[in-house]
Amino acid sequence: MNNWGSYQTLVGQLEEGILIVTINRPDKMNALNKTVLEELEHAFAQIKIDAAVKGVIITGSGEKAFVAGADISEFKGIDKSIAMEMAARGQRIFEHIEKSTKPVIAAVNGFALGGGCELAMACHIRIATEQAKFGQPEVNLGLIPGYGGTQRLTQLVGRGKALELMMSGNMLDATGALQWGLVNQVVAAEKLLEESKKLLQTILSKGPQAVARVIEAVEACFDKTKNGYTEEVRLFGDCFGSAEMQEGVTAFLEKRKPKFN
Ligand code: COA
Repeated sequence: MNNWGSYQTLVGQLEEGILIVTINRPDKMNALNKTVLEELEHAFAQIKIDAAVKGVIITGSGEKAFVAGADISEFKGIDKSIAMEMAARGQRIFEHIEKSTKPVIAAVNGFALGGGCELAMACHIRIATEQAKFGQPEVNLGLIPGYGGTQRLTQLVGRGKALELMMSGNMLDATGALQWGLVNQVVAAEKLLEESKKLLQTILSKGPQAVARVIEAVEACFDKTKNGYTEEVRLFGDCFGSAEMQEGVTAFLEKRKPKFN
């Protein structure tokens, strides 16, 4: 992987096609300052073009936090137009993660608050430890979520629950997050990376183009410029022209495991 050594706030570790990206500011609860956002943007541009990376796990450094939000110390002196640029930029970076055609799992190891909850929600799948806590506490600061949280939380848990979490600023524990559908799985802390890798390995054993098309088709559901059903027809058609599908169907008929590239 290019340039991992040059990051100040991210640590990248590539193992058998799985890149673990750790946000590394444990003394600040891994809060998203300008550098973290810049480096995440750069990293996802690299991930897109690096054939050695097949899938990604994002996690936080230390035992307390995944990410406790945007870095509040950078908020002072920001006016309306800078705030709007900041939100648009954060949204754009998280959209790159959401639209990544390589699967991305958030391994939530602690507080996922504000921008941290938003980052986890931009990932395709969320696996949390029993100690993880979720929330959009921006109202405590006289703010609202700005990195896509008002939209993705509503998509994930529905309008009523999303409004409750964002209007109250309350935190939701891992059990609650599982009940609400905010996370896919809850596991013991010591199993977090193991379980995240296990699920990612299962996904990576499937046809990568089919997996990418699933992501694209589901994304179309939330893209107001697209008709998801039409996109599904197109993507379904694309599968039939692929060597990957030839291999999958042939392997089934020959009663063997498919070998996808
Ligand atoms: N931005 C900047 N710094 C943050 C931060 C954030 N979002 N969240 C935590 N930190 C810093 C604290 O200021 C503190 O720094 P210091 O040691 O230099 O004083 C350090 O991280 C540890 O945090 P602390 O509050 O002492 O830990 P805690 O265990 O008592 O509480 C939290 C943990 C996550 C509940 C608490 O830090 C918190 O509420 N953070 C803000 C969450 C938030 O509002 N996020 C949305 C931002 S828009």
